[in-house]
Formats: sequence, C-alpha cells, structure tokens
Amino acid sequence: MAESWWRDAVIYQVYPRSWADSDGDGIGDLPGITARLKHLTDLGVDALWLSPFYTSPQRDAGYDVSDYRDVDPLFGSLTDFDALLARAHELGLRVIVDLVPNHTSSDHEWFQEALRAEPGSPERARYLFRDGRGENGDEPPNNWTSTFGGPGWTRITEPDGSPGQWYLHLFDPSQPDLDWTNPEVGEEIESVLRFWLDRGVDGFRVDVAHGLVKKDGLPDADMPHGYLTDPTSLAPMWDQPGIHDIYRRWRQITDEYARPGDDADRILCAEAWVKPADALARYVRGDELHQSFNFEFLMTPWIAEDMRNTISETLDAAEAVGAPQTWVLSNHDVVRHASRLGFEQSHGLTSPRGIGADDPQPDHALGLRRARAATTVMLGLPGSAYLYQGEELGLPDATRLPDDVRQDPTWERSNHTQRGRDGCRVPMPWEGSTPSLGFGPGAESWLPQPSEYGALAVDRQRGVEGSTLELYRQLLSLRRELRLGRGSLTWFDAGSADVLAFTIAVADGRTVLVLANLGTSPARLPDGARVRVSSSPDGSNGLDVPIDTAVWAEIDHPG
Ligand code: NOJ
Repeated sequence: MAESWWRDAVIYQVYPRSWADSDGDGIGDLPGITARLKHLTDLGVDALWLSPFYTSPQRDAGYDVSDYRDVDPLFGSLTDFDALLARAHELGLRVIVDLVPNHTSSDHEWFQEALRAEPGSPERARYLFRDGRGENGDEPPNNWTSTFGGPGWTRITEPDGSPGQWYLHLFDPSQPDLDWTNPEVGEEIESVLRFWLDRGVDGFRVDVAHGLVKKDGLPDADMPHGYLTDPTSLAPMWDQPGIHDIYRRWRQITDEYARPGDDADRILCAEAWVKPADALARYVRGDELHQSFNFEFLMTPWIAEDMRNTISETLDAAEAVGAPQTWVLSNHDVVRHASRLGFEQSHGLTSPRGIGADDPQPDHALGLRRARAATTVMLGLPGSAYLYQGEELGLPDATRLPDDVRQDPTWERSNHTQRGRDGCRVPMPWEGSTPSLGFGPGAESWLPQPSEYGALAVDRQRGVEGSTLELYRQLLSLRRELRLGRGSLTWFDAGSADVLAFTIAVADGRTVLVLANLGTSPARLPDGARVRVSSSPDGSNGLDVPIDTAVWAEIDHPG
C-alpha cells in the first residue's frame, strides 16, 4: 500500500475544450488529446486528469452532464475515449476522469422527467424540489445563493401551466442539485463509477465533493456563503458529516477494482473547498478518498511566513490520517498562478474571481518569476501534485478578454460584477507562428488567444535553456530521480524570516534543501550546498539565491 503510485504522483489536468482541436471547430477534443500525449511523457508527469467530456449542453463547460455514460459529440465518441485511454496506458500514463455527482444538467433525462411529474412524485424526489415560501409560494424555500451569483433556487412552471415548485441549484439554474438522501441517486452514481472503471480509468476527480449532502430541513444559512466553507459558520450546504458515508462506499468500489500488484490501485480525489485543514483531512481518512486538493496552499500569498504556516498545518493534518498531501497552484477555476502572484501580496487567503481589461493588471514578469519559484517549492514537497495545462509554459491568465466573448456563467449571474474563469481556459499555444498557435488545424479557437501566448508556445520553449517548459522538465525529472515526493520534510532555519526553507530526506540517505527567497535581498545558501536546479534564469551562484527564486540543493549536514 505504501508504494501506491498516487502517493507522490504528479498529475496534469487537461481541460479538453482547450488542449488540442483535431477537427478545426475551435473546440478541443479527445482525438486531439491522444495526438498530443507525448507532450506529457516529455514533460515527465505520471497521469492526466481530464475535465468533463460527457454529453452536455455545455452551460458550465461540461460540468452540467446530461449523460454520464457517453462522450459529447463536441469531443468525440466512446471509441475515441477508449483510444485515448489505450494510448495513454501504452505510454505509461494513468488517466483520471471527472465525476460530477452533486448535480446533473437540466437536460438530463431525470430532470426532464421530474419537470413532467407531480410534486411529491418519485421523479421529483431525485432532486431538491420544495414549495416556495410566502402566501403564494413565490419566495424561494430558503436564502441559499448560487455560487455563480443570484439565488440558489429557480421556480418551475407545473405541467398544468401553474406557477410551481422551486428546485435547488448551488451553481447555474441549468445544474439542478441531486437529493443524496434518495438511495436511487447513490445507486446511479455508483453505477457510473463502475461504468468508467470497467472501461479502465485509473480514478476520478470528484466535483464539489463537499456539497452532496445538505443539512436536514435545508435551513436558512446564517450568513452569505462562499464556495469555501467558513470555519466559523458551518454552512448548511457544505461539508456536512453525512458526506463521509458516501465516500466510504465509493472507496469500497475502487478497492474492489484495484488491479493486482502493489502499485496499481484506482483513486478518488476530492474537489472540496473545506477549511480548516483537519476538516479537509477527514475526506482522506484510510477508508475514504485517496486525495483532496489542498486549496489553502493555492490561496496562500507569496509571503514566507504564510507559506510556512499553510504547508506545516496542511501537511500535519494529512499526516495525522495517514494520507499524503495533494498540492496544487492552478486549475480551470482560478486565475493562473503566473498572474495571481503578479499582484502585491498581503496576508490572508485569496483567489481573485477573474480579471478584466479595466481591472488592475498583474505585473507579468514578476508573476512569472514568483510562479516558477512557487512551483519549485511545490514539486519539492512530499506528497502528490497537480499541474494545470499551460502552467508548464508560464502562461498568464488572459486578463484582457473582451467581455462579449466570455462564456463562464459567473459573468452573467453576478450581474457583471465578477469576470469569472474564462481567462484561465484559453486554448493552449503549441506553435508560435500558426493561426490558432497550433491549437487546431485552422484559425478557430473558442476563446481568443492573447498575442503574448505566441512567444510562450511549446515549440518556442522546447530545448531552450532557462525556459519555463525546460524548468518544469528539469524539476519533474529530478523529483522522480530523488523520489522527493516520498521524502519527509524538516524545516530549515535559513537565518531570515523571508526565506522559506526545508530539507527533504530522500531514500538513499541524501538530503535535499528546498530554499525559496521571498524577501528583498539575496539569501545565503549554507556552506557546501550543491544547487541542482534554480527557478530563475539568473540562477544562483552557489552562494546566494536571488529574490523570488527557489532552488533545490543537495547538502551534507542539515541544520
Ligand atoms: C467545480 C468545477 O471545477 C467548476 O468548474 C464547476 O463550475 C463547478 N464545480 C460546478 O460543477
């Protein structure tokens, strides 16, 4: 068990609509992914996670699933999926798919049946339909809001034409929440798990893993709630204790599918925006999920003291339940870390909800320099790590997208107060000088690629010393060689509060020092340190580490 692959795996998130487009319609697809898998073996990752490619009206970019057992024609077919999986396995890459169990699409057959059925019917009982409050039932059943803005309830018209019940949607109205107290719901999702396990997937990333169970009676929330649970108020829609029973059942299923051999089990990774760290760690107890994204790390500012506290608290919490920590800095829901870190940093956890052309702009050079250092820290930490497509190129967010091309429902639902997530979802640049930067055969790309992406394309960075792509390749190869993800961390006193430093004792008795300078003057390396990799092109002279730079160095005598 201790050898299981996922405990130190580096897993690369492919956002199918934006990775590679094989048919020229401007939207990425599964054959496009298969054709580009070599990029991942060249990079040196262990697995890929695919965001949803299932049948969907795409009102939330595929997180609104209308058929869990098929591929949307936009992305290809089940045959294309099988080909992708087979090719990935041939190349030694594991494949994790996304599971969306909190809600279906409103186009899902179940929801359409519920709309046609009577209040109180078994069809309605798969979702959270309730009568409204107020004299005519024209007030929502409670005060919950949608994560994308606006009310969390929508009223339907009954089949006879009268104003009807309301249904809950913690996200878009096109994403009705399922009622997880109904056993039929659990049985259906478990059968979906088995469907993809039978096809050979290596695991699942579980969408909104902290949201499936709602507090009994759906009481009003005490205060406006975000997607991240607030430790001071147990929001009645997030992180309810009953959630863990569901994950114990799922763990039995994935265990049942474990392939023979120590190194071959299938995994479940929670997308759970839960604080504090010990509440999140409950999702990865031995009989529950394998991993849970450490979003607190992602939201921590580039300040040494804050980074140290987050790393130490989250590592301890995971270790207390015998789980490895799962680090992440970027994904398809947040501003890319090369842009996030280009703003002035202040204490407290933050994650901006998108940047528009008229917002303050990040300092790209600074953001990139810090992002490279932050990744160097992350990949030196014990545990598993997730990368988001394009971060290996140092892509910034597209912060000047015209508002009329935005597709994230957040922009409309928030009454144009939050730009949303399109900026991190812009198609990948593969070739610096072709019309869609090599994304597809033609010029089409579902979101426009910013002009600065050309110079950052894969073919412009491959083999170029000092490029972000080469830095990632170097980090991943050395991480594998030294087995850093399996090491144990000891904090190292580098003599300055602005320096984040720890050592990792690796298997063969060697000690690796990970040292990041978050201060304003060069940081001293200990005597005899042998730098193996540095995050900044201006490097380290072996004596000092420049500002906003992280290094890995071998040392003889820690402390
Ligand atoms: C989390 C996903 O990552 C996000 O993209 C989606 O909008 C929501 N869950 C709702 O499914």
